[in-house]
Amino acid sequence: MAKPKKRYVCQACGSVATRWQGQCADCAEWNTLVEDAANVVTTFAKKHNLQGGGRRISFVGLDDEVALPARMQTGIAEFDRAIGGGLVPGSATLIGGDPGIGKSTLLLQVAARLAGSGKRSIYISGEEAADQVRLRARRLGLGDAPLKLAAATSVRDILTTLSEEEEAPDFLVIDSIQTMHSDMIEGAPGTVSQVRASAHELVRFAKEKGSALILVGHVTKDGNIAGPRVLEHMVDTVLGFEGERSHQYRILRAVKNRFGGTDEIGVFAMEGKGLSEVANPSALFLTERSEEVSGTVVFPALEGTRPVLVELQALTVRLASGATPRRSAVGWDSSRLAMLLAVLEARCGVSFASTEVYLNVAGGYRLSDPAADLAVAAALVSALSERPIPGGTVILGEVALSGEVRPVAHGALRLKAAAKLGFESAWSPKMSDAPAGLQAAYFERLGQLVDRILGR
Ligand code: TYD
Ligand code: MG
Repeated sequence: MAKPKKRYVCQACGSVATRWQGQCADCAEWNTLVEDAANVVTTFAKKHNLQGGGRRISFVGLDDEVALPARMQTGIAEFDRAIGGGLVPGSATLIGGDPGIGKSTLLLQVAARLAGSGKRSIYISGEEAADQVRLRARRLGLGDAPLKLAAATSVRDILTTLSEEEEAPDFLVIDSIQTMHSDMIEGAPGTVSQVRASAHELVRFAKEKGSALILVGHVTKDGNIAGPRVLEHMVDTVLGFEGERSHQYRILRAVKNRFGGTDEIGVFAMEGKGLSEVANPSALFLTERSEEVSGTVVFPALEGTRPVLVELQALTVRLASGATPRRSAVGWDSSRLAMLLAVLEARCGVSFASTEVYLNVAGGYRLSDPAADLAVAAALVSALSERPIPGGTVILGEVALSGEVRPVAHGALRLKAAAKLGFESAWSPKMSDAPAGLQAAYFERLGQLVDRILGR
């Protein structure tokens, strides 16, 4: 009789090996291979076919009643807007951002505000001592909010405590998921398996009890939320809190949202008394200008459905000879800058050879909208020729490699916002729905814009 073959199954990924090895050949985890009993092979075979033995699921039609989630307004309008109109009970949200950007401050403010409006609001800090958080809350003027605060890192302790409470929390903040530790799994806090296991338990608790859970996550150097990407799949909403530390403004942006769109942002300013809401973001990005300066252009950007006016600044420096000129862009894609320089040279005869080019988006704002092409080109030509763009002008339009100026999305919306802020004229591709009150100049080709700036 043939001896039953031994098999070893990896406990991490489920792959099967015929020999024991220290490391799984498939998922590269160590010490995960475990000998499988011989008769398991038959169970395996039985389970391998899943077409029977389960429970029946029921189907519904697309036209059946939809129960929309009741949202919980936090009272901080910019936060509610970014999250899609308020927090959804029984949902999990991950909020990522660089260290020091203001995640803890924001969530403390949100938690305190909710507590003040009668919600059961809990803030668990794994990074700071309770005293530290309390001091910060006092400094922010939130000292008397009935917020429940604790410093803890054991997920078992946290969930034990919370499930022994009479009522489940409406709002629960875990700051941060990288400091949490689950004793069901080995390994130090912050490791992939710990982060995953802790998040899994916390999310399950939130779903069961109908709490709105917020997990804070740190961001790695390349901008991903540290720990496994899988965290992003476990939660309903992923928010990013962005901004330059050297600048005041912060943008809360949804990257993923199962309960709403991802095109709305919340804008805040970090001030002495915490984060304040910025209802009119344009004011943050437009620098005060008393006179017309060559190389500066205002572009009506769009964040979600919300126009934000930003200032573009270009500087050109002539080089004496020979050396390769630098091209540098801050807040704008440098390959798109190279493309515009090439189009200006090839289609309009404006040469930037032996000229260094610097482009900056004011206020630390980052633009990736091709609708800014025409504004960037205008800033470059204006800087090179030292001829300022007339004050009170906004410029928008996409530029094709052929030198054609293409229409942009939501042109009318952008121009309406500019008109509201006192701008008088717009340079743009042909638009049928330009708002009244703004003098419009239409450009079909980039060459026409160059001629206009150079006064030809
Ligand atoms: P914090 O919320 O601790 O950041 P994170 O949790 O994302 O790491 O924010 C800390 C920074 O915010 C710190 O550099 C100081 C600044 N800050 C203010 O400017 N004003 C304030 O009122 C507070 C509380 C913080
Ligand atoms: Mg923090």
